[in-house]
Amino acid sequence: MEDYQIFADKMKELGDIKYALSVLNWDQEVNMPEKGAPFRAGQMATLTGIYHKTYTKEELGTLLSKLSQNKSLDFEQKRNVEAVKKDYDNYKKYSLEFVTEMSHSVSEAFQAWHKAKNEDDFSIYAPKLEKIVQLKREECELLGYEGHPYNALLDQFEEGARVKDIDPLFSDVKKQLVDFVKDLSEAPQVEDDFMYKKYDKDKQWQVTIELLKQMGYDFNAGRQDISTHPFTTSFNPRDVRITTRINEHNLSEVLWSSIHEGGHALYEQGLKSKYYGLPQSEAVSLGIHESQSRLWENNVGRSSAYWQHNFKKLSTAFPENLKNVNASDFYKAMNKVQSSLIRTNSDEITYHFHILIRYEIEKALINKEIEVNDLPQIWNEKYKQYLNIDVPSDAKGVLQDIHWSHGSIGYFPTYSLGSFYAAQFFAQAQKDIPQLEEKISTGQLKPLLDWLRENIHQYGRTYKAHELCKRITGEELDFKYFMDYADRKYKSIYFPND
Ligand code: CO
Repeated sequence: MEDYQIFADKMKELGDIKYALSVLNWDQEVNMPEKGAPFRAGQMATLTGIYHKTYTKEELGTLLSKLSQNKSLDFEQKRNVEAVKKDYDNYKKYSLEFVTEMSHSVSEAFQAWHKAKNEDDFSIYAPKLEKIVQLKREECELLGYEGHPYNALLDQFEEGARVKDIDPLFSDVKKQLVDFVKDLSEAPQVEDDFMYKKYDKDKQWQVTIELLKQMGYDFNAGRQDISTHPFTTSFNPRDVRITTRINEHNLSEVLWSSIHEGGHALYEQGLKSKYYGLPQSEAVSLGIHESQSRLWENNVGRSSAYWQHNFKKLSTAFPENLKNVNASDFYKAMNKVQSSLIRTNSDEITYHFHILIRYEIEKALINKEIEVNDLPQIWNEKYKQYLNIDVPSDAKGVLQDIHWSHGSIGYFPTYSLGSFYAAQFFAQAQKDIPQLEEKISTGQLKPLLDWLRENIHQYGRTYKAHELCKRITGEELDFKYFMDYADRKYKSIYFPND
C-alpha cells in the first residue's frame, strides 16, 4: 500500500480512540452519576494511555519522516503530514507516566472543582489544582519554549501565539476599552428588568431549539443537553453535540449559551467527514473556533436585525413577561454594558477584562510568581481593579470556571482572539454578501453559513489561523475591526442623538 494511505488509515484509528475518549468525557459532564467518578477516571486514563502509545509508535515516526521527503504529495496531503509531524514530535516529549498522571489528576480536579463550587469552599479544590499547576510547569519544560514558559502552553491552543504578541494586544484592549466603558456608564442606562422575570424552563428550551434550527444546526447530526458549563464536543462531523444551561430568572443565559455553542457546532459540522482523523477535518485553532461562536453570538445574535425577525418567538412564548417590550427594547437590554462577576454572563465589551484577569493570573502561576493558595485573594483584587466589583464568595469568584480543572491553562486568551477574528470576518462577510443585514432581519441565515463554510469550515487545519485570516480578509488580525464594531453599535444604543 502507498505510504500516504497507510498514514491516513493510522490517523483514522487514532481518531477512533480520541473520539471514544470524547464520548466518555461528554457523558461524565452530562449524564454520569457521582458514584461512577473513580471508575470513569480510570477508564479515561487507560484510554488516554493507549492513545499516547499508539500515537508515539516508532513506525508512525518513520512513516512521517518518509512522507516529509515525498515530493509527489499534493498541497493538502503535505499539510496533513506537516501538522501530524508537529503533534507527533510534541507527543514524543511526554512520558507515558506523565500522560497517565495528568489524566488522573484532571479527573480528580474536575470532581473536586464541582464539589468546591457547590459548597463554596476553595480548600476542597486547592490541592488538586496545585497538582495540575505543578504538572503544567513540568509540561512547559518538557515541550521547551523561547521567552516566557507560558508560550509552550499557548502554542497548544493557538499555534504561533506568544506572550510578547499578546501582551501588547491586551494593553491596547485596556487602553481603548476602559475609557469606552467609562463613557457608556455615564450615559442614561438601558432598561433590562424584564430579562429577570420568571421564565418557564421548557419554553426557554423550545426557543433555543427553534433558533438553532434557523442557524442551520443539523439535529440529525447532533443534539443539545444541559450541563453546568455549556460546551460543544464532536465525535465526527456527523455527531456534534452541544450543551446549554437554563436560568429561570435570567433569560439571557440560555440564549447566549445555545447560540454560542451552536456557532462552535456549525464549524464542526462543516468540517469534511471524508478526512476523518486527519488535520484537514479538525479545527485550525481555538481562536478560530471561538471566532465562529462569537460571530453567531455577538455579530448576529446580538444584532438589531436578528431580533427584528426573532423577537416574535419570544413574545409568543412569554406573552406576560414581555407584554410591554418591543424588539428594539429587547435589543438594547441584551446589549447592556455593565461590569459583572461572572465571565459567561458578561457583556461582549467588559468580557475582555475577565479574560485579561485570567491571562495575568495564568502567566504568573506558570512563572512561579504566585501559588494556588494566593488565588482567591489575587482574583478578588483584580476584579476590584479592572471591573470595580467586590467578589462576595469564591463560588462566584475564583471557582467560576471549569478550565483549570481540565488542565486547560493557556486557553483563555483565545476567547479574546476569537472576538477580534469574528469582528474582522463579519466585516468581510458584509462586503461579500449583498444586503447581509436585510437577510438576517428576515431570518435568512443560510447565505452567511454558506460563506463561513466556503471560507473557513471546509479547510480544517489546511491553513494556519493567521494564513486563513489573510486569505479571507487580505490582512493580519487587527483589533481595529472589533473597536469599530463596538463603537458603532454601542454609540447608537447609548448616545442615539449624537
Ligand atoms: Co466558546
